Order: sequence, then C-alpha cells, then structure tokens
Amino acid sequence: MNTRRKVILRELGLTPLWRLRKTTATVDSSLETTDAEVTQTDALKQPGEQNPEIGQMDWAQLASTVASCTACPLRQTCTQTVFGVGDQNADWLYIGEGPGAREDALGEPFVGQAGKLLDNMLAAIQLKRGQNVYITNIVKCRPPNNRNPSEDEAKQCAPYLARQIELIKPKLIVALGKVAAQNLLNSNDSIANLRGKIHDFKGIPLIVTYHPAYLLRALPEKAKAWKDLCMARAFMESQS
Ligand code: URA
Repeated sequence: MNTRRKVILRELGLTPLWRLRKTTATVDSSLETTDAEVTQTDALKQPGEQNPEIGQMDWAQLASTVASCTACPLRQTCTQTVFGVGDQNADWLYIGEGPGAREDALGEPFVGQAGKLLDNMLAAIQLKRGQNVYITNIVKCRPPNNRNPSEDEAKQCAPYLARQIELIKPKLIVALGKVAAQNLLNSNDSIANLRGKIHDFKGIPLIVTYHPAYLLRALPEKAKAWKDLCMARAFMESQS
C-alpha cells in the first residue's frame, strides 16, 4: 500500500482492517444487490413540475436561477447560494444536505472539516473532487445554525437538484447522510436500513452512506462507510 493511501485510510480510521477489493465478486455477499433489494423512488419531482422552465435550462441558466432564487426563507439568512462543484459529465454524483458556515462563505460544497473527510473518502476509492465527480446538496442555501432543511425548503430546491441530475446523467448517486437519503428516496427510513442496497432513483442507481460530518463524531461508523464506498466502487466496476 502506498504512503498516500495509508494516510487516507488512517484518516478514515480504517487501517489495517479494510482493503479495496477489485471486483464485484469479492464484495461482501451481504452487500450484493438482488432485484428484490432494488427500491424505486419518484421522490424528487421531475424538474419543471413546479416551474416548467427549470426543466429546459442549461447549466448557466440553472446556476443563475439558483443564485437569484428566493423561493424559501433560507436565502434571507445565507451569504450566497452554493450551487455545486465538479465535472458536469461526472459518472459519480455525491449529494449532501446543505451548505455549512464555510461553504456559505466560500460558495462551494463540502469545503469545511466534513469536506476534508469527503475528499479523503473519495481518494480512498481513487476519486478526486472535480474529476468524474460532481458534488452538490439537497438545498443550495445554508440553513441557519446548520439545522436540517425543512421539508418545504427541500421541496422548493428539489427542481434545481433534479435538473442538475438530468444534466449530469450520473452512473451512480451517493446520498450522504439521512437528509439526502430521505429526500432522494422519499423515505423516513434510517440510514442503517437504507445503506447496503442499490436503490433506484429514476433509473439511476443510488447508494446511501453516512454523512462525513457524522463520521467525524462517530468513529466506529467509519468502517461501515468504508464498506459502502467499496460497494459503490465494485458496483461501478461491474457496470464498466
Ligand atoms: N454538509 C453538507 O451536507 N453539505 C456541505 O456542503 C457541507 C457540509
């Protein structure tokens, strides 16, 4: 194992227990997907259901519409909208909850402590922010005091995320944490129940894992997150 990889795995609290395995065949059999496990969702409405124009927008139009959005009260208290970052043709789409203080200040998702861990999680499976990876959030404005976005706030923002997904056409969506998972899957289920499966989001495979901010507080869960990452990587390899 090279030094950088060791550092990353140490950061994730995983050395020396977990190793990235090469093929689907080597994935923990409890994580293999069966048809029965694939779940369907139509949680996020098709872009444009609330505003038909959103469904026709290109990236520039969408970004400027988000930047001037006042559909919910979050825009009154945030510094700026945080649209998303990365490769607009990415195979991998990571979706978090909403910007925190640092993201609100810098205008980019996952740039604080949780973001550093996310970058390390990406590196652990040979991914890099901006390279075949796009990162965004359920809501584009920071909820005050980092509270969870309300159902209505998430609903107002949903057409923007739906259009981003439609434009990116990712091969896999990774929902980071409960808020992302529950909104995307229209579910009240726990992360514990939602992870370990390949869900279906309008024809796009979706997996659920823990939010990096939660992992910073709950070290033992890092091993489970690592399993999720391995499952995601093995799934993508099985598709190529
Ligand atoms: N947490 C999130 O869910 N998103 C961010 O962009 C930063 C922290």
